[in-house]
Amino acid sequence: MARKIVVTSGKGGVGKTTVAVHLAARLAQKGQRVILCDADLGLNNVDVCAGVEHLVTYDIVDVIEGRCRAKQALVKHPKYPNLYVLTSSHSAPERYVSPQSIKLVLENLAPQFDFIFIDCPAGMDDGFHRAVATADEALVVTTPHISALRDADKVITALKSYHLNGLSVVLNKVRGELLTSGDCLTPTEVEELLKTPVCGLLPEEYDIYSGDLTEIHPAFRTLAGNLLSGRKKWYDVTKKYSGFFGNIRRVLKRNL
Ligand SMILES: Nc1ncnc2c1ncn2[C@@H]1O[C@H](COP(=O)(O)OP(=O)(O)OP(=O)(O)O)[C@@H](O)[C@H]1O
Ligand SMILES: [Mg+2]
Repeated sequence: MARKIVVTSGKGGVGKTTVAVHLAARLAQKGQRVILCDADLGLNNVDVCAGVEHLVTYDIVDVIEGRCRAKQALVKHPKYPNLYVLTSSHSAPERYVSPQSIKLVLENLAPQFDFIFIDCPAGMDDGFHRAVATADEALVVTTPHISALRDADKVITALKSYHLNGLSVVLNKVRGELLTSGDCLTPTEVEELLKTPVCGLLPEEYDIYSGDLTEIHPAFRTLAGNLLSGRKKWYDVTKKYSGFFGNIRRVLKRNL
């Protein structure tokens, strides 16, 4: 039976879709059977981020409205045969899609899979509720910036009313040079602030995202390993900035 994990944040643009896509791909690469479901109706982009937009025939709204069966709407990823993308519709007005209908579709698919990742829209309105109501665990993505952390705190409070089995934070866009110099909150400080465990640390790197998923950054491998094993190992985002050349890199980056 699949673990249904919603990837949410409150604040927009912090990396929900990036985290959902890369985590799903890594777990599929490790032999897990994974569905990546886009619950961001209207501003959906999981298909593009996973590089399968040209392969989509049906979407989740087609399943809900009876135009196809759930399995027909799953797009098998060309590079990761264990990864299936369930896209969302650009065209269906949001009011036609209830949380119950998405939940039914995913519950129907869950017995044949190990993980279902649900990419949540930004904000905390109907779209948030629709995505979270289908899940039994949540990953809250935030950056170490105060505005994102404040939104993460609000989301965590809201998530507590959903009686989820698991709730943890993914700290994204962490700048190793700022962490090294003490100019950025540490993951331990973020845990204390949000009173929630940080299960993954991802560096801010211009090449962390590769559109066709040709490569998966090692930080996602560590995070996926944590999800599978329940351990808590943080990717070392400061490694690049230690030692002689690392110090030069750090000074150069700080002066940008
Ligand atoms: N660790 C990172 N380092 C560098 N760029 C990143 C990182 N994570 C995400 N990005 C970039 O930040 C932008 C926003 O990411 P993404 O679309 O995943 O955010 P989101 O939370 O899903 O946004 P939305 O709220 O609009 O759905 C993208 O251009 C993405 O490539
Ligand atoms: Mg997104």
